[in-house]
Amino acid sequence: MTTYVQRMFEGRTAFVTGGGSGINQRIAERLAEQGANVALVGRTQSKLDAVAEGIKAAGGKAAGFAADVRDYDALVRSVAAAHEQFGAIGMVICGAAGNFPALANAMSANAFKSVIDIDLLGTFNTCRAAYDHLELPGASIVTISAPQAVQAMVMQSHVCAAKAGVDMLTKTLALEWGPLGVRVNGVIPGAVADTEGMDRLAPAGPIREALARQMPLRRVATKDDIADMVIFLCSDAAKYVTGAIIPCDGGMTTAGMAIQTPRPPSRPG
Ligand code: HXC
Repeated sequence: MTTYVQRMFEGRTAFVTGGGSGINQRIAERLAEQGANVALVGRTQSKLDAVAEGIKAAGGKAAGFAADVRDYDALVRSVAAAHEQFGAIGMVICGAAGNFPALANAMSANAFKSVIDIDLLGTFNTCRAAYDHLELPGASIVTISAPQAVQAMVMQSHVCAAKAGVDMLTKTLALEWGPLGVRVNGVIPGAVADTEGMDRLAPAGPIREALARQMPLRRVATKDDIADMVIFLCSDAAKYVTGAIIPCDGGMTTAGMAIQTPRPPSRPG
């Protein structure tokens, strides 16, 4: 008997922002496992190169195209170079994000803006720059949101505002680009183990342990849990899904749970 293994994304190109680390690195690796040519985007070329080398060592195809998602012109150059090297963009993963815990009154206007610029403007910039290079019909865009989009959290005013905006941007692009055969969906990862975001918001110790105990599924996510959802949304199995913002969070947002970062006094004295 012949064993025939069909890889889902053979010959197609994925453009992954934030692909140099964390959840987005794992998404990039999993897309490559399924045959995609992966264009990794992030601020630091050497980090992208290291991830690309790992993918190539495992038999995949990948290259790094450094850009800060806040810099639209740099993204235009990256996506054009990725198209030139690998072909039209079939999948766009908008994963680049920034975060730090801070009370609103302890944040400068520029601090608030820096997260809006990375998360919200960066997602728009990525989608807009990729638009001119998309595979039509058939491209799939996935934005990476956060529980903060639907759940207010202390010390997260910047991320809550930015990610709520990302979700509405996702839905609007689904309306505008659907007629071209482009699907646009969002994923809400919950608390994900071994990520910078988790280290910043719930450092290892009692807070993190309590968080896992309270999850309806009684554990935090792995990066593969999130990558699986992204693979699904990019695949033909989701061919009639667009404008959906799907929690992949073990029930965290359904339960109305928020990460409780310790709250310092809001005013001295
Ligand atoms: C108050 C802070 C601050 C803090 C930075 N700022 N950290 N203010 N409390 N802890 C202020 C700075 O003083 C500055 O304001 C402004 O923010 C910009 O800071 P820069 O360091 O100049 O900006 P930049 O180098 O562009 O860095 C952006 C960043 C940084 C967001 C601040 O943390 C970053 O690069 N992050 C990327 C990696 C990351 O965050 N990964 C985690 C993503 S996880 P002033 O007024 O002084 O100029 C994630 C998931 C969320 O997003 C969901 C989890 C459940």
